[in-house]
Amino acid sequence: MVNRSRAEARRVHVITHGCQMNEYDTHTVLSELVAGGHQVVDTPADADLIILNTCAVRGKPVEKVVTMLGEFRKQKLAGRDLTVGMMGCLAQLDEGQEIARKFGVDILVGPGAITDILNAVDMVAENQQPYWSLDFKSELHEHLTPAPDTLTGFLTIMRGCNHNCTYCIVPQTRGPEVSRSLESILHEARAMQRSGVQEIYLLGQNVNSYGLGRSDLPSFAELLRHVADTGIPRVKFTTSHPMNFTSDVIDAMAEHENICKYIHLPVQSGSDRVLRRMAREYRRERYLEIITEIKAKVPDVVLSTDIIVGFPGETEEDFSATLSLYEEVEYDSAYMFMYSARPGTPSYKHFDDLPREVKTERLQRLIERQKGWSHRKNHRHVGRELRVLIKESATDAQYVVGHSDQNHTVLVPRSQVGEMGLYTVTVDTATPHTLYGTVSGYAAQRVPLMMAS
Ligand code: SAH
Ligand code: SF4
Ligand code: F3S
Repeated sequence: MVNRSRAEARRVHVITHGCQMNEYDTHTVLSELVAGGHQVVDTPADADLIILNTCAVRGKPVEKVVTMLGEFRKQKLAGRDLTVGMMGCLAQLDEGQEIARKFGVDILVGPGAITDILNAVDMVAENQQPYWSLDFKSELHEHLTPAPDTLTGFLTIMRGCNHNCTYCIVPQTRGPEVSRSLESILHEARAMQRSGVQEIYLLGQNVNSYGLGRSDLPSFAELLRHVADTGIPRVKFTTSHPMNFTSDVIDAMAEHENICKYIHLPVQSGSDRVLRRMAREYRRERYLEIITEIKAKVPDVVLSTDIIVGFPGETEEDFSATLSLYEEVEYDSAYMFMYSARPGTPSYKHFDDLPREVKTERLQRLIERQKGWSHRKNHRHVGRELRVLIKESATDAQYVVGHSDQNHTVLVPRSQVGEMGLYTVTVDTATPHTLYGTVSGYAAQRVPLMMAS
């Protein structure tokens, strides 16, 4: 470690893995560091402080962290002046702490301790020793994160999870549920609106449990209405848990034009036997009842889900039940995962993993089926007009890309868009995952294309 003074400004870069809650936390940490006089740089190569914001939900993201830390250690041994930090879900686990020790990580900050980041950077400079902070700090819940300079703003409304799905590491990494106050949420929402954010994404592991058991807080449906009443053009939320998904949320969606008609409702499996072994607290029939109510009240709703394929003990019959549920719901899209046995979870301890070939083959089959279904659903939009928040250059530089109110990925020719913002787009063609369209008007726009790309 290079000797430096406590007051020395660092050039910081954060690499973010995992879900949107991690993206929000990255923004919080960067805001804190900037407020403390440090400078954010665009690439790891320009940084002298690199922080990895990690995910531990499956084995793959953990492997990625190990590879990156190995590379940083090599560079440090070769003489690069670099402080390495690790935050996020992996940092909270014994597994992550072992990795941190092995690779000489300087700063380790758990998901409940991100407000400690400035202190951590100072302490490492002062003491020339690693600094770890793994408490769940209550101050975090009312901490105000400044608005981002982007068109979509993430806003964490609650942290943690009180469920105990047998496959899942998240309750261990993020602790029990804590809801933020209505005031702090609305404060952030209004600041985002003033700074030009067009779409607020309310985030939590189970947003529907917001305020549960707290007489001083509104329900999630009431909170949604409050945020919609700010007049922000779009409000989205994720993730909903079927167990706590109540009719009043559907009513709020149906009644407020700016609450997007898009629901991500993870089912995980279509088989009751598997759901029971996963300790998901609903069954197929209840899940389908919720879907029926949503479709009746919000006719143009777009639905997506998460599915785990190859959970221990899943038979061919169980898997067929997942396929048939998918077809029955007519999801627009799905995040499909192969079961990953995570050390420390109940299913890791108590169940035998299925052979990898079985899991891979089923995942491939589901992906193939899903492609056809999504294509069919996407094709229905050809000729229709959608409102699209165009945010950035697409991988193919001839296009810019954004998301519709209902979360479809939409590409339009770059030549048709001067600035990023909200446009109306007529859909010309559809692939399973993407809609291609022509701009037919704009609703609101602001960021010059050069800046946003
Ligand atoms: N709180 C959300 C999901 C959070 S994790 C919910 O309950 O729906 C995001 C997704 O990762 C989960 O929905 C699940 O599909 C997947 N996942 C979690 N643990 C996993 C594991 N061990 N193996 C494979 N996928 C997993
Ligand atoms: Fe994990 Fe289940 Fe909690 Fe979602 S509800 S975070 S899957 S334990
Ligand atoms: Fe990963 Fe943690 Fe999110 S484990 S999915 S970063 S809550």
